Amino acid sequence: MSQSLKVALIGANGQLGSDIVNHFSQSDRYQLTTLTRTDIDIRKADDVDRILTSQKFDVVINSAAYVRVDDCEQEVETAFNVNAIGALHVARASRDIGALCVYISTDYVFRGDRPDPYTEDDMPDPISIYGTSKLTGEYLVKQTAPRSLILRISSVFGKAGASGKGGNFVETMIKKAKAGDPLKVVNDMFMSPTYTYDAAILLDELLKAGTTGIIHGANSDNCSWHEFATQILSLANIDHPIEAIPASAFPTKATRPMNSALISDRLGDITNFKMRPWQEALAAYLAEKSYC
Ligand SMILES: NC(=O)c1ccc[n+]([C@@H]2O[C@H](COP(=O)([O-])OP(=O)(O)OC[C@H]3O[C@@H](n4cnc5c(N)ncnc54)[C@H](OP(=O)(O)O)[C@@H]3O)[C@@H](O)[C@H]2O)c1
Repeated sequence: MSQSLKVALIGANGQLGSDIVNHFSQSDRYQLTTLTRTDIDIRKADDVDRILTSQKFDVVINSAAYVRVDDCEQEVETAFNVNAIGALHVARASRDIGALCVYISTDYVFRGDRPDPYTEDDMPDPISIYGTSKLTGEYLVKQTAPRSLILRISSVFGKAGASGKGGNFVETMIKKAKAGDPLKVVNDMFMSPTYTYDAAILLDELLKAGTTGIIHGANSDNCSWHEFATQILSLANIDHPIEAIPASAFPTKATRPMNSALISDRLGDITNFKMRPWQEALAAYLAEKSYC
């Protein structure tokens, strides 16, 4: 059997991070070191250097981010310090120890003003501070780490819930519907919902294949937020109306792409693994959480 890869995971208690831990710790291929914010603050170059150069990691996964999209508009320095400069610190340390640097990125690097899903070849053009800070992070990682993998995911849901957002959309819909709260959800904004457990499996497959560069790793197919919400309640057997509203009726501090659905032109050439449709991933998530 080949030697296991030494992997450092930053952001290990986040929504995606937790599922990377869940999946990777089941495999002999990986010797995982989990790092939470109490172990490492990626804004601090010295911290990052000290911790990442303490062992000969083969792979460093940076799943840490400042993900509060609306707050980023005011807290621009924090957004850039974590999502861009923090990513640079991690990329430098990865370079210095000869590790592959994995940076988790987002569909929000795209403008979202066209009807088709975005592929890896499409030109990013973010319209929010969050998206701009993440794209800057991508560029800094690419420029700094000789070997990097940038995995873009989209609209994620995972059992841990987004620690930075205090839950996820699926849980919010179920909680509000069960409480009998009125639900209004936008029906003209489209994306590819992504289960973090599936993204973790994909990352495993990408590492096995020695993948570098940019990869889109959303669950397949796409939908509006209203369609997503409707499917959540339907699968969870909750009978509750959801009013469809246009995004213009739900103003937010950050401008969001109207269509940020992701599709991969590369994945089929790299692995036989296919991301399942979001509907199947959602059903699996709800079953695992005993909602259905
Ligand atoms: N959530 C989405 O819908 C979405 C969509 C597309 C892409 N993404 C990307 O996916 C990745 C994972 O997101 P997620 O949903 O798992 O978010 P999350 O649950 O908020 O996890 C982010 C993690 O980063 C940690 N963190 C924040 N600031 C840090 C710092 N300065 N130093 C070290 N760790 C820090 C957080 O620690 P604490 O919990 O202690 O704060 C948390 O564990 C991110 O790169 C995000 O940009 C997310």
